Amino acid sequence: MTIPPRFLDELRSRLTLSDVIGKRVRLTRAGREFKGCCPFHNEKTPSFYVNDDKQFFHCFGCGAHGDAVGFVMRHDNLSFIESVESLAGLAGMQVPKASPQEVEKSKQEKSLYSLLEEAARWMEIQLRAPENRTAYDYMIGRNVSDELLASFRVGYAPADGQAIRQHLLKQGYTDAQMIEAGVTRRSDRAKDPYAFFRERIMFPVPDRRGRVVAFGGRILPDHLRPPDRGDFKPPKYINSSDTPLFHKGRMLFGEPHARQAAGEGKPLVVVEGYLDVISAFKAGYRGALAPLGTALTEDQIMALWKMIPETPKMPILCFDGDDAGRRAASRAAERVLPLLKPDQSVKIAFLPQGQDPDTLVNTQGEAAFGAVLSSALSLVDFLWQEQTTGRELSSPETRAGLSHALEQLALKIPDRDVQHYYRQAFRDKIRSAFTPAFTPYSKNNYKKQKDSNVSALRKPTFSKNNLIGMAILSTAINYPELGMDVEEHLAGLEFQDSGLDAVRQGVLSVLSQESDVTSEYLKNHLIQMGCQDKLMYILSDQVYLHAAFARPGRDIADVQTALKGALDALSQGRADADLQAARRALMQDMTEENENRLKYLHEAGRQE
Ligand code: UTP
Ligand code: MN
Repeated sequence: MTIPPRFLDELRSRLTLSDVIGKRVRLTRAGREFKGCCPFHNEKTPSFYVNDDKQFFHCFGCGAHGDAVGFVMRHDNLSFIESVESLAGLAGMQVPKASPQEVEKSKQEKSLYSLLEEAARWMEIQLRAPENRTAYDYMIGRNVSDELLASFRVGYAPADGQAIRQHLLKQGYTDAQMIEAGVTRRSDRAKDPYAFFRERIMFPVPDRRGRVVAFGGRILPDHLRPPDRGDFKPPKYINSSDTPLFHKGRMLFGEPHARQAAGEGKPLVVVEGYLDVISAFKAGYRGALAPLGTALTEDQIMALWKMIPETPKMPILCFDGDDAGRRAASRAAERVLPLLKPDQSVKIAFLPQGQDPDTLVNTQGEAAFGAVLSSALSLVDFLWQEQTTGRELSSPETRAGLSHALEQLALKIPDRDVQHYYRQAFRDKIRSAFTPAFTPYSKNNYKKQKDSNVSALRKPTFSKNNLIGMAILSTAINYPELGMDVEEHLAGLEFQDSGLDAVRQGVLSVLSQESDVTSEYLKNHLIQMGCQDKLMYILSDQVYLHAAFARPGRDIADVQTALKGALDALSQGRADADLQAARRALMQDMTEENENRLKYLHEAGRQE
């Protein structure tokens, strides 16, 4: 479709640019122009100017420049045509259509859109009506603030099956239109159609441009509902059926804000349900989306990639931490393999057992969800983990079985380059997993080494606040590639806090049993062990502030040097403490043994 230049001129002149932009960016007047903080780069002092006379915006910070269409394209992450259509809607103009059929189709769609918009608006009002207080209070009780309810346009569908129908009839819509939009349905028993959603909290599903195209409805929890009539137990959620405007398998809930987030370089995060999207959004993860009551389809995966403007395109798919979640992740991975392209994949994150993003954010805070996302596995690591976990691998035959299974997975990738690198990655993993390590790890081994060394007479124990211990642990988790360097030190420590010590042991067991361990892999393992809380503390600014080298994303050589420095300081401190203790012991008790011990420590100190 091409749009005549005359139409674009007309469109620009009917819109006031500062209105269009002002809906998305806070603008203040500055002489004949408006200014605000640029939405296209990070800034605290405004250098973004909007000129209504000249109909363009300009940022003196990053050079972003353009007209209304350009702004919407970039800000809402829409195509040219979509942006023009979106702005035309705002200006009350109709984008020219080629054929009469197209004109007719677009008229019909327009009335369906406006019907659904009206339905959504009516439901929002119902949620705030005094008689539906229970529903409103229930949502507030679930930590969905009034503001969030408004931004997601959450509503309520009352029990009366005629209420919405009567309202829409009054607005001039017909029964046929309501049925087509999925708002009402025909009944065998009554002569009039009745509301599809009744006694449900309503989540309108917006399309990529923010137009309502469908609904999902949740029942109130049992204790807030009148007792069920008979044995019939209504499903917790129902969703609109497919309509000319809504295709369940192609759309995702949360697309408008997620699309914007992707445009700003934030990650897309696929969660399971409506409330998960809302809670993730609240926690600052605006790239959150959910399928609509089904498993993620190929079309939805493709749609995710299309939403992300920059490569590599790596949406994160979140799954429950239980067996069902693992199986769902496997199925999703199988669905993704045939679609992989260079720079186009997914990451897989697992939630702690029994949690969904909504409960996680609301009971443990934003960082808890952040930790889950930062532990997302690459697809190749996930497949490896899935194929090796619980598999017996001691015989040549079973190893060949693993190798065969991995080969079958790689064969599902039609893209030749990606397939090549998967094969290579699997081969590398097999090679390093089955090549005996240079010094095989064993607890006794460490003990022997350590016992020959004065400063290891006692295992240093750390309290929760001991920063060196925390820094070592945090370095080990962020930089598992340090391998033996850090493994050895971890084995020689102990934390008084049993939770922290569990993390230490968890890290050790992964490092000692698996090769090529990535930080994500390790964090994922710790979360699955139930160490989420401790992990968040270990990987927090509280620790990084005092041990900057432990922070992720640093040059490995620098980390190594800094870690060595910290360890030297630690052993020096420990040697000093040992010396003092030995002196004190000798003063109190002049035995030969105590005297020898002091002499020995002096000698050792001089040699260091
Ligand atoms: P969940 O049962 O996990 O619900 O379903 P939830 O999202 O955690 O909701 P709350 O927290 O209990 O309120 C996850 C998603 O699966 C679909 C819905 O899209 C829901 O958001 N679903 C679930 C259905 O379509 N029908 C159902 O009966 C249940
Ligand atoms: Mn939930």
